[in-house]
Amino acid sequence: MTHFQVNGRRYAAKPTAGQCLRTFLRDLDVFGVKKGCDAGDCGACTVHIDGQPFHSCLVPAFRGEGREITTIEGLATNGELHPMQKAFHDAQAFQCGYCTAGMIMTAVTLTDAQKTDLPHALKGNLCRCTGYRSINDALLGRCNIEPDEAGKALGASLPNPFTDAIVTGKARYTMDLAIEGLLHLKVLRSPHAHARIVSIDRSAALAVPGVVAVYAWEDVPKRLFSSALHEDHLVDPDDIMLLDNVARFVGQRVAAVVAETEAAAEAGCRALHVEYEILPTVFDPVLAVQPGAPLLHDKDLVTASNNIFCTLQGEIGDVAKGFKEADVLHEQTYSTTRVQHVHLETHGSIAWKGEDDRWHIRTSSQAPFAARQKLAYIMGIPPRDLHVFTERVGGGFGGKQELVSEDLVLFATMKLGRPVKWEWSREEEFIGATTRHQMTTRVKIGARKDGTLTALDVEVFSNTGAYGGHGGETLAAAMASPIAAYRCANKKGIGHAVYTNMTPGGGFRGYGASQTTFAVECAIDELARLLDIDPFEMRRKNVVRPGDNIESIWKEPNDASFGSYGIDECLDIVERELQKGNGVTKPEGAEWAEGQGVALAMLECGPPTEHRSGAEMRLLPDGTYHLACGSTEMGNGIITAHKQIAASMLGTRVDDIDIINADTDRTPYDTGTFASTGVVVGGKAVHLAAQAMSDDIINFASRYAGVAIDQCRLDNDSVICGNQRISLRELHAEGAKVDHRFSVSRRAYLSPRTIAFNVQGVRLAVHRVTGEIRVLHSVHAADIGRPINPMQCRGQLDGAVAMGYGWALVENMVHDDEGHMVNPQLRNCRIPTFADTPHTDIFFADTIDLIGPLGAKSQGECGINPVAPAVSNALANATGVRFAHLPFTPDRLFAKLAAAK
Ligand code: FES
Ligand code: FES
Repeated sequence: MTHFQVNGRRYAAKPTAGQCLRTFLRDLDVFGVKKGCDAGDCGACTVHIDGQPFHSCLVPAFRGEGREITTIEGLATNGELHPMQKAFHDAQAFQCGYCTAGMIMTAVTLTDAQKTDLPHALKGNLCRCTGYRSINDALLGRCNIEPDEAGKALGASLPNPFTDAIVTGKARYTMDLAIEGLLHLKVLRSPHAHARIVSIDRSAALAVPGVVAVYAWEDVPKRLFSSALHEDHLVDPDDIMLLDNVARFVGQRVAAVVAETEAAAEAGCRALHVEYEILPTVFDPVLAVQPGAPLLHDKDLVTASNNIFCTLQGEIGDVAKGFKEADVLHEQTYSTTRVQHVHLETHGSIAWKGEDDRWHIRTSSQAPFAARQKLAYIMGIPPRDLHVFTERVGGGFGGKQELVSEDLVLFATMKLGRPVKWEWSREEEFIGATTRHQMTTRVKIGARKDGTLTALDVEVFSNTGAYGGHGGETLAAAMASPIAAYRCANKKGIGHAVYTNMTPGGGFRGYGASQTTFAVECAIDELARLLDIDPFEMRRKNVVRPGDNIESIWKEPNDASFGSYGIDECLDIVERELQKGNGVTKPEGAEWAEGQGVALAMLECGPPTEHRSGAEMRLLPDGTYHLACGSTEMGNGIITAHKQIAASMLGTRVDDIDIINADTDRTPYDTGTFASTGVVVGGKAVHLAAQAMSDDIINFASRYAGVAIDQCRLDNDSVICGNQRISLRELHAEGAKVDHRFSVSRRAYLSPRTIAFNVQGVRLAVHRVTGEIRVLHSVHAADIGRPINPMQCRGQLDGAVAMGYGWALVENMVHDDEGHMVNPQLRNCRIPTFADTPHTDIFFADTIDLIGPLGAKSQGECGINPVAPAVSNALANATGVRFAHLPFTPDRLFAKLAAAK
């Protein structure tokens, strides 16, 4: 036994052979040490050893012996936050908070000189949520929060209610749980893009010490399902099984090994011997639809005899006639890449059987209720036997709108009767999780000399990969708002979602609309250039206006409607700010070219399919409130927004409302927190419940005080009835005497859907020889209705825009000819670091929505959509060359610029 000093406490413990300090500390229940990669790339595991910061995943645990180890939990002293924790608190320098412990541990050690060069000093710490702006604010000592005052919650920049827990490392994420008798699950993934599993020899795996069980396709329920989670499961094709006898992409799970330790489970996977029959492959969706292409699935899942599982098409007006009326035409094919969500907390679940004889699943999910339905179906048990819940979720971005870990842990725990945990590695995220759908979009567009659009024709090929979850819905989104954003009498489109042997596509912030927004917004710019019309004017002339039909290519009725309209203001803001400039000039040298670009995006707030949320409120004996809502908090700030909505309705302080969320036992139903529904559906349910709570209290108080209802009003912790002030505590006690419970429940549905807009402006410099891009000025304006919490809204947009720059400039999943991802590590498949992320000035249009709760609209998703086309438009403006294929990495820019020269 050896001794370790952690946060001033002495531990007698012995690391296992080869164990790193990160897992060793977590085995001591020091859960503030997080895992984002286990490869030294993300910094989530940063700790101090004798005062120096280290990525603990890279340090052998035995090297910590006899050293002073400090984690985030050891930073605060005498109950006082460390000044850096306070700085992160005041700046609200986090969203999901998963990176925060590591970020603070690094920041604490920075010298004043290092603080003047944060892009360099923070290069070892990644944040996927914030766009680093609020982290920069923390390091500069800025305070972004306002006081929590009764009756003033709406529109206030209030802190996340879990701030203290996040900055001190006490916040518990999915895997931060110690359970007695826990087993660990790991999967063997297919090395082949298409292969039939002939046989699996489990004997060597079962002989590995600690291995408890091995499961393969023969052992699991033979029920097809889709891993995508929606209210209506029929929108996704049922094409997946828990474990299958055919692998259709490299990374598909082939067998599961359950063992006493994670290391034993991994060793068990390595010891499995699988005999594969290799099948022909196809990776390109255009080739996959050709006659004779290898088929991935049974014929009843696809149309005709090819791999198309979903085709959407339609026409309004007469596109052929519209093109004849055009004075100019533009036609081009644009393509976007598949990228990974890289939520810093990887997928994972823990399942166990409770004393209530039910199965409990703690999971990192955006949709625990939909997950419960699907799990019940797969396992053939009633949903009431399942309890699915989240603790704190470390980012999602659509990647956790999937059932990808809960199914196997539930299966294994039901088989073995012991708790089972499965935590994914970063490599598994890259090769086994879903990605943004790669889409290729041909746009043909025509206009008259004055810029009026006469016809728009769009054709989309969406590569949905080996499985079709979200394939139809993302295609529908791709064919919807980017086309509907423009008034044009003649529109036509056809889109195909096609199976290939690539990693499956899934939901991802922007959800299909990002891809075609890129194509359409580039095409609009090309037309403007042909007509010599200013790009802002071109958009003003053609963008939809109040009173217009909001229609894409279908004549069917649509529930989208203008609850408010602010695109005109957004365009004005971005144009004004770019004209004003920010004083940043392009680098010296003739090879640097400078250009400016703009793009817009429209969002129908919420999915066109069914979406619903419930909220419950109770008045508690101490006069405070309890709020329960099914929405998942994953860094989107939804619990803060929900509390603010409730506090606004009740005239109270946000701190006087406690909240639970995303728990199938303890909160009302919620379809899931995706498609920007957290405020417009979940928030609407909270709004209705809080209104009902207010009515209930005032009605009771009126009777109790003998004062007319219109003379009664809520005021913080009391009700004012005429000239009496009755505390809520007293009212609750009086209610108890007559069995009046002060308990309400309300439900909200998503229809009609209001419309939000975003505009991105970019001024950049590009080096004609090296292909290097420097963003000189980045401006974003959003029409999101009334911001419930302006700081949070700005943060969401900071993060979305940063992700847009990542998609445009940095991120690139590279696959070889056999479907293997060649760079499944964060150091090789990079996401933006502090240094890669330009500062963006964020503005809001001054609108108050008539449909959304308290005037608010959706805003979590759409900020990403106009970024890549704005960059492409700026590049075209700078160089005269159209970059139509993402990403704009220096090597690709260099090749194209050299060719153009
Ligand atoms: S987990 Fe250690 S650097 Fe990512
Ligand atoms: S707050 Fe940084 S990864 Fe979520």
